[in-house]
Amino acid sequence: MSNYDEQYDVKEIKYKELQGFSEKQISFHHNIHYAGYVKKRNEVHNKLKGVDKASANANYSEFRALKREETFNASGQLLHESYFSTFGGDGKYAEDMDVIKKITDDFGSFDNFKQDMIATAKAARGWAILAIDPTDGRLRNFLADAHNDGAVWGAIPLITLDVYEHAFYVDYGPDKAKYLEPFFANLDWKIINERYNKVKAVYSK
Ligand SMILES: [Fe+2]
Repeated sequence: MSNYDEQYDVKEIKYKELQGFSEKQISFHHNIHYAGYVKKRNEVHNKLKGVDKASANANYSEFRALKREETFNASGQLLHESYFSTFGGDGKYAEDMDVIKKITDDFGSFDNFKQDMIATAKAARGWAILAIDPTDGRLRNFLADAHNDGAVWGAIPLITLDVYEHAFYVDYGPDKAKYLEPFFANLDWKIINERYNKVKAVYSK
């Protein structure tokens, strides 16, 4: 028995269609890219069960290569599940939602938060991620150039904005800024608020 025995399933999308995204765009993103990370994570697990650990080496070894790709694919899985799970809404929020109050406190206003997240997305090669910074409990938008690069340890994502070209090229070509509009328009703030309250409870322990 080993913890590398674990195999993961691709999670289904729970909504029918999204404003501003074609079925082809979402299908490629979900069924090819996201599913690819899950499948490769499973493959990495299988290989880790039999790999030679005695020859582990930081310059090159099969074990090192597998451990590097373990975090790439695990983070690809986790971030995409977060990305798809907050869609299905109409982008509208209520001022009295706990997460909106926290955003207002930490960024000064909702518009400041959105401006900061859009700038982070434009500057990123992979992800713009809203999370609670565990060092001081404040919300911040973090920039990640790859799934396993740029993460702040212990920061659980609340909103994960995918800016890999595969997230928008079918519908928007190179117009990354245009893609950000439907991203925000499809957010389900009820889900984000529930997630914020769960995450907040983790940090308060
Ligand atoms: Fe993606």
